[in-house]
Amino acid sequence: MTTPLIAGNWKMNGLAADLEQARAVAAGLGAATSTARVVLCPPATLLARMAAVLSGTPILVGAQDCHERPSGPFTGDVSAGMLADAGASLVIVGHSERRAAHGETNAKVAAKALAARRAGLEPIICVGESRAERDAGRAIDVICGQVAACVDRRLADGAFAIAYEPIWAIGSGVTPTAAEIALAHAALRGALIDCASERGAAAPILYGGSVNPGNAAEILAIAEVGGALVGGASLEAADFLAIVGAV
Ligand code: PGA
Repeated sequence: MTTPLIAGNWKMNGLAADLEQARAVAAGLGAATSTARVVLCPPATLLARMAAVLSGTPILVGAQDCHERPSGPFTGDVSAGMLADAGASLVIVGHSERRAAHGETNAKVAAKALAARRAGLEPIICVGESRAERDAGRAIDVICGQVAACVDRRLADGAFAIAYEPIWAIGSGVTPTAAEIALAHAALRGALIDCASERGAAAPILYGGSVNPGNAAEILAIAEVGGALVGGASLEAADFLAIVGAV
C-alpha cells in the first residue's frame, strides 16, 4: 500500500511569524510515530523560509501552483523549477480556487502537472465537482473526466497524487457522506488505472474539503482514501497534528 499523504494547504495565509506553526508541527511530529508523509504548502513567499525551518525534519514543503513554462515573459508567475529551487518537493495544481478565479482549464492543469514533473516536483492534481453537478447526478462523470484530461500518460513514469475535493465541501464545514467519498474514490482509481496503469494504481487519492480533527479518522479509514488535503485546519499546528495522528 502507498504511504498516506497529509498535505496542509495554507492558501493565501501566512507571514513570517506563522512559521512558528510549522515549527510546532515539526516538534509535535518529532515525538509521534506517523506512518504518513506530511507536507505543508505555504504561499510562495514563505517557501524558502519554511524549507529552512523544516530542514532536517521529515516534513516536506510544497507549493500551491506553478506556471506550465520553465521561464519567460510571464509577469507575476512562478515556474516549477523556481519552486524546486526554493525548497519545494511537491506542488498542488488545478485547485478549484485557481480553476474558478484564474480560468484554469483541464489542459492547463495537465501542462502544469507535466511541468512539475520535469522540475522534479511531485504534482498533487485536484479534481472535484460543483454542487450543481452533484445535484444533477454528474459528480462521478465530472471527476473521472477531469482525471482523464489532467493526467497525461507521461506522468506515469514518476510519483504523483490526486486530490478529490468537492467544490461545495471546501471551507464550508460540509462533507460528503462516507459512502459518497468511497464511491468517488473507487471511480477515480479506475480512471487513474486507465490513464496511468501501475502508477495510476499506486498514486494516493487524497480527500479534501472541510477535513478537521473531528472527522479525519472516519474519512481516512475509507477504502481508497490515501490521505487528506487540508485547508483551514492546517493553519493551526494542533489541528493539523491531530489530523496527521488520525492516519
Ligand atoms: P478546507 O480546504 O480544508 O478549508 O475545506 C481544503 C482545500 O481547499 O484544499
